[in-house]
Amino acid sequence: MFVFKAAVVGAGTMGGEIAQVIAASEVPVVLKDVEQKFVDTGLEKAREVTERQLNGLVEKEKLTREQADERLEETVGRITGTTEYQGFGDVDFVVEAVPERMEIKQAVFGELDALTPGHAILASNTSALSISEIGSATARPDKVLGFHFFIPASVMRLIEVVDGEFTSEETAQAAANFAMQIRKNPIRCGEEPGFVVNRVLVAAGSEIWRYQDESGRSVEDIDKEITDAKAGPMGPFYLADWSGLDTTLHVAEHLREAYGDRFYVHPKMRELVEAGNLGQKTGQGYYSHGGD
Ligand SMILES: NC(=O)c1ccc[n+]([C@@H]2O[C@H](COP(=O)([O-])OP(=O)(O)OC[C@H]3O[C@@H](n4cnc5c(N)ncnc54)[C@H](O)[C@@H]3O)[C@@H](O)[C@H]2O)c1
Repeated sequence: MFVFKAAVVGAGTMGGEIAQVIAASEVPVVLKDVEQKFVDTGLEKAREVTERQLNGLVEKEKLTREQADERLEETVGRITGTTEYQGFGDVDFVVEAVPERMEIKQAVFGELDALTPGHAILASNTSALSISEIGSATARPDKVLGFHFFIPASVMRLIEVVDGEFTSEETAQAAANFAMQIRKNPIRCGEEPGFVVNRVLVAAGSEIWRYQDESGRSVEDIDKEITDAKAGPMGPFYLADWSGLDTTLHVAEHLREAYGDRFYVHPKMRELVEAGNLGQKTGQGYYSHGGD
């Protein structure tokens, strides 16, 4: 199946950039959120990322300024914002990127099942929830699967294509093809907790969170040592803030439940989430982000 038109539901940390990735591959995309201000933030993010990518090409003299300006408008012009599922009637592929809560995902999948064409594939960007459970909210569980991007979606090449219990081989293959159509590298996996990447990433993060708690050293110092050692582009505390502490906590708790105490949940992360401090998206987490 070739994807002529796509949709993204949820224009938050991930959704705006996912829409950008799709639009930059010349596929028209509808971006839906619950309020216009969230849609606008997603559209702004998509513009900002496209502008940055095109400026890079101008600097490398691969495009002229005029060509870059034209391509910017073409790319962002392929993204249509909506708060009402307008334009979902003829989509071939949907990526859901709403908060990591089963009841929200199931409500969205029920709506998508009613509003999209019968052939459309309904994919979730979930980091940890069961694809089979999400799919049970639809009458097409064979066309439901995981399609897991990594932050920042515009840069990271990998997509985990996650089979649920009822996902058909045809759906998984079509999703892997779509990943390549939008210039990503798909890997196929089952719905084991943490899939592949988070199982590895959170295991490493977990040990550092545990070390911080045991040593009492500051998160800033630990993050700085990790980046100074070039062990990663940013430390695990900053990464958690950037990803969203609610999402990170959910994944950490899920892995702890699944694999036991070799995974560690940082108590301070739970405190921050309970206080509504979710990291960069709310301006405060382990760090103060001051609107940046
Ligand atoms: N943040 C990350 O690093 C990351 C990485 C990979 C995957 N994910 C996954 O992506 C999904 C989204 O995460 P996020 O970090 O972008 O969350 P987020 O909280 O930043 O954004 C979620 C967006 O969904 C919107 N929303 C809520 N209910 C909706 C509905 N019914 N219809 C449309 N929009 C709705 C919210 O208004 C918000 O704008 C989660 O499943 C998460 O696990 C996140």
